[in-house]
Parts: sequence; structure tokens; C-alpha cells
Amino acid sequence: MIDEKKRESFGSRIGFVLAAAGSAVGLGNLWKFPYIAGKNGGAAFLFIYIVIIVCIGVTAMMAEVLIGRMGRLNAADTFEKLGGKKWKPVGLAGILCTFIILSYYSVIGGWIVKYFFMSFTDLIEYAGAGKTGEIFGAFVSNPSQVIFYQGVFMLVTALVVLFGIKGGIERSCKIMMPMLFLAMIVLIIRAVTLPGAMSGIEFYLKPDFSKVTSETWLAALGQGFFSLSLGAGAIMIYGSYLPKTENIVSSVKQICFIDTAVAFLAGLMIFPAVFAFGAEPAAGPGLTFITVPTLFAKMSGGVVFAVIFFLLFFVAALTSSISLLECSTGYFVDHGMDRKLATLITAALIFLTGIPSAYSLSGGLKIGSRDFIDAAGYLTDSIMMPLCSMFCCIFVGWVLNRELVKREATSDGKIGFGSFNIWMMMVKFAAPAAILVIFFTGLKW
Ligand code: PFF
Repeated sequence: MIDEKKRESFGSRIGFVLAAAGSAVGLGNLWKFPYIAGKNGGAAFLFIYIVIIVCIGVTAMMAEVLIGRMGRLNAADTFEKLGGKKWKPVGLAGILCTFIILSYYSVIGGWIVKYFFMSFTDLIEYAGAGKTGEIFGAFVSNPSQVIFYQGVFMLVTALVVLFGIKGGIERSCKIMMPMLFLAMIVLIIRAVTLPGAMSGIEFYLKPDFSKVTSETWLAALGQGFFSLSLGAGAIMIYGSYLPKTENIVSSVKQICFIDTAVAFLAGLMIFPAVFAFGAEPAAGPGLTFITVPTLFAKMSGGVVFAVIFFLLFFVAALTSSISLLECSTGYFVDHGMDRKLATLITAALIFLTGIPSAYSLSGGLKIGSRDFIDAAGYLTDSIMMPLCSMFCCIFVGWVLNRELVKREATSDGKIGFGSFNIWMMMVKFAAPAAILVIFFTGLKW
């Protein structure tokens, strides 16, 4: 039996905004955004990315939070409760998506753990000698090490969820997130003042649209959904904890703004440095890990800075990974399984599922032309998340009662939502159509 009465609420709107921003800001911003932007031509990608966030991301996130607050259960049962059995698969697909994401997310989380420890020892020394590429290559081509650190990251995630110290982590984010922001600003100042940085700034801010293809659009769409944690049920779960009286519209705008700002700053930190050091912007998943240590080597007190940066980066990844684990675990807990058991079993299964991803970076496992980890990312970001999110929009636009949606969005008319009709048009037509077009024109396995 599902117990709906026990559901807690966030104490305040700011609690919700911070928790959802904690889920949104993570590896997607600091690791994935720069390397996907680098692979897709820089500035033109950034432009398309921002268009997608503003036109589709905000709309879709509002739909997801609204469904969550109306249903107040995990994603699968929420869809069933509000729309009947035929809608449950959409929620289940979202939960499956979080499972797959965390399987490779934990691999990259493990890289951060490794770099955190390395920054106490020889990371900066190697970086000073221009050897960050070699260090990175040697690490990722050693599967047993990668799997070990993946395990450490997964264990910490599971312990946080297990002991219910999620709230504590989220509270500490109030301090850690602004600190991460500050650390990034310092790094940006260092990066843009390096000789040769200007070509990086141009690459990142001066668009060349001749390089844009339908795949660029799909890459930006997938990255946008991944970064905002959309279509996977995570934001829906947070929505289910949002008190009925709080303003969904302004909360969602804030979350999208924070997330996009952090991604933008990550690019501004990485690309000037990439060009100044003569590295390759399309270097792929190692980009942040190869570039940032070199920046530290060029700063006085670089070691201390590196330690602090990787700690903050770790916490940002952790607040996202706990939201991912909560989605899969929450389903079993809502269905009566003991929380500890559900967490342990799910975490262990996710860890095992991630092992092929850990292996694939040493050049081993491939699916078609893609490394296994890349294929898993493509499946979740470019296929599952946009499609699930599209169904969320369709559900709000076409299935739920319009009056009920309006009452929910405006807290029974107490909160003004002047552009409600425009948003409804976006949810009903524009967002699903745009997602479908980008999806079908850009899909290439
Ligand atoms: N948005 C997170 C990031 O950018 O790192 C990743 C993520 C978290 C995706 C939670 C999906 C999700 F449900």
C-alpha cells in the first residue's frame, strides 16, 4: 500500500529551489557542458542551448513540478494516480532513466574523488609539467582504479540516502554552492588573463552558425534536459514536496537561471584555458579534468585551491547523485520496501550496471561506434529524457483538467500567473512539437 499521508514538505520555497538546483547543478554543468559544447562548435552550441532552455526547458520544468505537486508520489504512481494505468509507463521510464544515468554518473563521480586525493599529492606538479593529458589517460585506462573510485562515490551516495542525511547535505549546499560559484570566478579570472586566452573566448562567444547541424540541436536538447534533471522524475519528486502555497513559476525560473549560469561559467573557465594551453576543445569527456589542473598549476597556492575546488565539485555531483538514487529507491519505498534495504539493493545494482561504462574508457567496450559510456549517455540524454519530458508536457496540456492545472499553478488563484495561457499553448503544442522535430531530425546512433 502506498502511504500518502506521511509525505514531508520542504519548509520553504527556498528549500525547494536549493534542493532542485542541487539536483540540477552537477557533473552536467562542470564536466559535460564544456565537452559537449567543445565537440559541437562552441558559441553556436551555447546560443542554441540557451534558446532551448528558455523556450522548452522552463516550460517543461513547470509541467514536471506541477505534476509532482498534484500527484505527491513517486513518478510512476503519480502518473497512474492522475492519468490512469496507461500513463504509468512514462513514470517507470523516467525511473529507469535515473537508474541508467547514475550507473555512469558514478563513474565520473569517481574521477572527482580520485582527482581530489591526487590534488593533495602530485596533481599540480604533473600539471606544471604539462602532463595532465597523460595522467588522465593513464587513470581512465586502468579499469580497476576507475571501478574502485566509482564504488567509493556510489557508497557515499548510498550512505547519504541511507542515513537520511540528505537534508544536512542540502543545507550545507547553501554555503557550498556559493563557494563553488566563487571558486569558478577566481578560475575564470585566471583563465581569461592567460596569454592566448582570447581565441578561446572567441570560440565560446562568437557563433559560427555554418557549423550547426540537426545533431547540434539534438545535442543541445539532450544536454539541456540532462542539466535541468528533466524527464527523469527527479524534479517531479521535488515538486511533490513543494507546499501547495508556494509559487511554482518563479521557483522554476530561478532553478533554470542558476543551472544555466553555472554551465555558462564552466565554459568561460575552460575554453580560454584550452586555447591558451594549445589543447583540443573537442577532446571529449576528459576536457575539464585535463584543463582545470593546469590552471591551478599557474596560480600561487594552486594545491590548496585544487583541493577546495575538487571538494566543491564533489559536493555538487553528490547532490545530483542522491536525487538520482532517491528516484529509483523512492519507488520501492513507496511500495512498502524497507528504506535501508531498497537503498542498498538499488545502489548495488546501479554500481554493477556502471562497470561496463568504467571499462569502456580504456578503449574496450563499444556499442556501434560509441564507447559504452557514451552510448548510455546518448540513450538517456538524447532519447529517454526528451521523450519522457515531452509526455509530461502532453499530460499537462491534454490529459489534466485545465481548470485544475490553473488552480495548481496559481495556488488556487492566490499567485498571479499572467502568462498562463501562453504557457498552456507552449505545453500543449510548441514544446512537444519542438522536441519531436529536434529528436527525429537529429537522431543518429
Ligand atoms: N542535472 C544533473 C547534472 O547536471 O549533473 C544530472 C541529473 C540529475 C540528471 C538528476 C537527471 C536527474 F534526474
